[in-house]
Amino acid sequence: MTLPPLYLSSQQPRARWMRFDTAQLLKRFFFCERSLLVSMAAWIPSIASLEIKIEMARFTWQSSETANSLRERVFELRFPNRLLEEEGSDHSLVGLIGSVRDSPSVPALLSAVGHVFLPALRDAYRDYLDASDAIADGPTHRFLSVALTEKREQVDAFQKWAATSLTQHAALRESTAVWTHDLSERLVAIGGIGVGPASQVDVTTPKTNTYAIPDRPARDPRFWPCRFYWPDIVDSTFPYGEGLRLQLRSAISHLNEVWAIEVGGIILSSFAEVLPWEWIRNSARWTYDESRHCRMGYERLMAWNLDPAEIPLGTYIYDSASGEDPIYRLGMLYFFETKNIRHKPARAQMFHSYGDTLSEHDMDFDWADETIHAGYGKHWLKELLVLRGQQAEAYDQVRERCGQLVTDYVGTATAKEISDIRSVADALILKAGKTELS
Ligand SMILES: [Fe+2]
Ligand SMILES: [Fe+2]
Repeated sequence: MTLPPLYLSSQQPRARWMRFDTAQLLKRFFFCERSLLVSMAAWIPSIASLEIKIEMARFTWQSSETANSLRERVFELRFPNRLLEEEGSDHSLVGLIGSVRDSPSVPALLSAVGHVFLPALRDAYRDYLDASDAIADGPTHRFLSVALTEKREQVDAFQKWAATSLTQHAALRESTAVWTHDLSERLVAIGGIGVGPASQVDVTTPKTNTYAIPDRPARDPRFWPCRFYWPDIVDSTFPYGEGLRLQLRSAISHLNEVWAIEVGGIILSSFAEVLPWEWIRNSARWTYDESRHCRMGYERLMAWNLDPAEIPLGTYIYDSASGEDPIYRLGMLYFFETKNIRHKPARAQMFHSYGDTLSEHDMDFDWADETIHAGYGKHWLKELLVLRGQQAEAYDQVRERCGQLVTDYVGTATAKEISDIRSVADALILKAGKTELS
């Protein structure tokens, strides 16, 4: 006679991963998202297409939110805090993902992200959701399902952008294919992202280029290119305006917040290694918010049937901090946030009185965002200064110097630039007058 077993046991797929295994996988995903989003942010200024610039900011923010949920969940699983500060056995994988920042060109970046790293993350999330326990690990299932949906959208977008950018830069086809293939091979060699144990293989990361912050931002060629995007910037006698002029000026300002998306991306990546995680999360949100403000202006101008070729898209604020320590890029955002915020409620009120509900709506939402941003600026400038061994209160000096940098740069406007922007603005005001903006 055989004795009954002493304990109940059966093969249960729910028990495939124990708490610690789960935390290790989620930690890997956190570092992969973090690494990828830092590279995406760094490239925003180099992308010409306004659509891609805006969408990349949104995707960067999505990644930061996913990374933040992953990080919080790892802490909930009682993973030792100290171990979450380092990639550990995933060091090589995370380094490989980070190497995409050194892509040799815009198509190469879009292709490597869209064909190699985003699909690998998407598949890892899908496999994780399939194999993990929706009961014990229910909180992860909720946010990772959202992340999987977002990853699918991101893969489609990046692959489409990579294809479009290659039709515009056919000469880069070969180098883009080589770069993408190379990274893909290395990712395979390391075992992918996946849900398996960390690879022991140490791959070297390819290097064809070293990332540098571009001195000039790439701009969408559909618009009228310039440095100073409205006459009042270079000519104090030109009024900011009321009525139709104010409606137009405000939409032009919003569109030209494209500089703030670029600067947001630069500062996120520049300080990612020195400031704590919360910096990346805040600056990703900041960058995304600025992309929404830019899009608000674009959509209003398009709704008024204006032609992008007649709309000035300038670079002067970006240019003003070029070649400077990136702390002045952070300072530049802070300078403009605090300089303009007081006008916004009054302008929303003016738009209300004109019956222009869309401008009013956009300005009102923008004001709420900018209030958050002014807080980010002050807080992180202080943190950065303290890290550098300086007084936190010197943040105001950084702000003041930014004001001076802009004034000096505006002083370089040529007579031709001033008369050209005047003609473009007058023509736009005339045309808008015939359209009647509301
Ligand atoms: Fe803004
Ligand atoms: Fe802002």
